[in-house]
Amino acid sequence: MSRILVTGGAGFIASHIVDAYLAAGHDVAVVDNLSNGKRENVQEAARFYEVDIRSPQLVEVFAEEKPEIVNHHAAQIDVRVSVEDPLFDADVNVLGMIKLLELCAKTGVKRFVFASSGGAIYGEPAVLPAPEESRIIPLAPYGAAKAAGELYIETFGRLHALSYAILRYGNVYGPRQDPLGEAGVVAIFSSAMLANNDVRIYGAGEQLRDYVYVGDVVSANVAALTRGDGISVNIGTGKGTSVNELFKEMAALTGYEREPIYCPRRAGELERTYLAVKKAKELLGWEPANDLKTGVQKTVEYFRKAKGTLFTK
Ligand SMILES: NC(=O)c1ccc[n+]([C@@H]2O[C@H](COP(=O)([O-])OP(=O)(O)OC[C@H]3O[C@@H](n4cnc5c(N)ncnc54)[C@H](O)[C@@H]3O)[C@@H](O)[C@H]2O)c1
Repeated sequence: MSRILVTGGAGFIASHIVDAYLAAGHDVAVVDNLSNGKRENVQEAARFYEVDIRSPQLVEVFAEEKPEIVNHHAAQIDVRVSVEDPLFDADVNVLGMIKLLELCAKTGVKRFVFASSGGAIYGEPAVLPAPEESRIIPLAPYGAAKAAGELYIETFGRLHALSYAILRYGNVYGPRQDPLGEAGVVAIFSSAMLANNDVRIYGAGEQLRDYVYVGDVVSANVAALTRGDGISVNIGTGKGTSVNELFKEMAALTGYEREPIYCPRRAGELERTYLAVKKAKELLGWEPANDLKTGVQKTVEYFRKAKGTLFTK
C-alpha cells in the first residue's frame, strides 16, 4: 500500500480517484484550494489540506505527508478562462505544476500521475480516432499549458529518475461533474432536461467528442499507480459521439420531450475529436467498461437525486 497525495482531490474527477485509492487500502491525502472543488466531495478517511498548489505551504504538506506517489489533478479547467486570461491559466497549470514537480524531486517522490487532455492538446486531429502520435496543436492556452506540463514531467523524469504516467483524457462525464469542465455538456443537459428547461445546442450539433465515463477514468488512474513507466496514453472510448446523439440518448433517459434550441456556433470550438485507446490497453491493461448509454444512465441518476443542490458552492 502506498502513501498517495492527490491534488485537486475535492474536484469532480479526482474525488472519485480518492474514493478508489482509499477503497484499495492506500493512505491518501488531498490538496485542493476549493476554488472549484467541494469539501464534501472528500471522504473523512483522506487527510484534507485546503492549500493552493502555488503556495509555500505546499512544502509543509510534503514534509508532513511524505508521499510516495503524487496524482496531479488540480488545475484551472475552463478553456474560455484560459483564452481570456492566459497568464492566470499558466500560473496554475504550468507554474503550479513545476512547483509540484520540484517538491516531488526534492522529497524523493517515486511516481507522478498527471491528468492531461487528449481533446485539448491535439486540436483538430488529422487522423481519427487520434493516436498519441498526433501532432500537438492546441487551439487554446489551456491545451498549450497541458502540453507544457507534459514536457516538464518528461524532463523531470529524465533529470530526477521520477517515474510517471501521463493520462490524456477525452471528455470526462459522470456524478459530481462541473458544468465548466470539458464534458460540461452532460451535466448541463442532465439538469436542464430533468427540470424540463430549454436545452441549447451551439452549431449544428454534429461536433464529435469522446465522452468517457468517470468510473473508467478512475480505473485508469488505479492501473497507472503500478503500470507503465514514462508513458503518455489516451483515456477515452475510441468513439466519437455528436451532441445531437448525446441529446437523443439523454432525452430518452430523462423523458424530455422538447426539441433543442439551436444557437450560433461558438468561435474556436473543435469540430471532431476522439481518441485511439489501443495504447492504454497495451501499456496499462486498461479498457473502458461503460458505453455511453450505461455511463449517461448513471450520471442522470445522480443528477436526479441531487436535484436542487446542483452547482452550488
Ligand atoms: N473534465 C474533463 O473532461 C477533463 C478532460 C481532460 C483533462 N481534465 C483534467 O482533469 C483534472 C480534473 O478536472 P475536473 O474536471 O475534475 O475539474 P475540477 O475543477 O472539478 O477539479 C479540479 C480541482 O482542482 C482544484 N484547484 C484548482 N486550482 C487549484 C490550485 N491552484 N491549487 C489547488 N487546487 C486547485 C479545484 O478546486 C478543483 O477541486 C484537471 O487537471 C483537468 O484539466 C479534465
